[in-house]
Amino acid sequence: MTVVGPFGVSVRDQALEADIQAGLAAVEAGLIEATKSDVPFITETAQHLVRAGGKRFRPLLVMLAAQFADPHSPRVVPAAVVVELTHLATLYHDDIMDEAEVRRGVPSANARWDNSVAVLTGDFLFARASSIVAGLGPEAVRIQAEAFERLVTGQIQETAGPPPGADPVAHYLDVIAGKTGSLIAVSGRFGALMAGADEATVDILTQFGERIGVAFQLADDVLDIASDSEESGKTPGTDLREGIPTLPVLRLREHAAAGGSVEDRALVELLDGDLTDPGRHAEALAGLRLHPALAHARGDALRYAGAARDTLASLPSVPARAALAALCDAVADRAS
Ligand code: IPE
Ligand code: IPE
Ligand code: MG
Ligand code: MG
Repeated sequence: MTVVGPFGVSVRDQALEADIQAGLAAVEAGLIEATKSDVPFITETAQHLVRAGGKRFRPLLVMLAAQFADPHSPRVVPAAVVVELTHLATLYHDDIMDEAEVRRGVPSANARWDNSVAVLTGDFLFARASSIVAGLGPEAVRIQAEAFERLVTGQIQETAGPPPGADPVAHYLDVIAGKTGSLIAVSGRFGALMAGADEATVDILTQFGERIGVAFQLADDVLDIASDSEESGKTPGTDLREGIPTLPVLRLREHAAAGGSVEDRALVELLDGDLTDPGRHAEALAGLRLHPALAHARGDALRYAGAARDTLASLPSVPARAALAALCDAVADRAS
């Protein structure tokens, strides 16, 4: 068994391993090529986060999904580059919204330069992604456009918060399906589609991507609280500081509303206050790390990873299916 790619998926089959390694290497070259500009400063800002690394989770999913038809189709690698560039563009923009200072273990573009540079670099990356996807035909353009609409809709709905009377957990799940599930669903879909898979297979891999995408964001939201920056390459507690109520906080509120302890209510009160204050922020982070609500959210992440795994049942039993199951385990492991 070999662990492949920076995210790490366990692969037991040598031919599959070679395909994935070669595919990911071609994606790296494609990303460097796609982020070159005639203006040296733009190349510098655009390649800043490309070169910083990242898990390349979405390209990995494209490659694995392509295994269900012709994985060597010349349309597969550009599709993976499109998805990663689109993701990258959203990271530049997300870090402005979250006032994040660190990304992929390096200063975020907004911290290293400023918000204007970060927003325009994100736009530049999206323009490059659009240009490459145009080469894949109108259906691919439409798929990417629709996913991008869902993504930004999710980001806006997160910023706006739940409308009056809405269930906060249902709102949260809608938000993460939009902001993260959408593009990861496209990864599964593009992989299968570009490799020439039949419609049923494309649909299964799209649904798989959507589900593993939600589990992936649930894990990310647990990690925002549970991990250190060494592990995540980001600043822990960013969601708390920005007042974004992710699932661990929502589960805590449920515990407290259902007659939780004095400590539960004190923690809720702390979370309701100003968490831009470093002392209060540290106290809230420490409180949540120890609270059963975090374990509850971890359980939720595991359930979604399991639901993603279930969608694989009707795919043929090839080595890539085992690798996709292992990918679900890797996402679940991240959360636990
Ligand atoms: C970060 O995505 C934003 C989320 C959707 C959680 P990743 O966790 O895939 O970030 P990189 O690409 O590895 O940096
Ligand atoms: C952002 O979610 C998802 C997108 C970039 C669309 P987060 O705000 O949780 O992502 P991180 O934690 O900053 O990577
Ligand atoms: Mg963020
Ligand atoms: Mg996050």
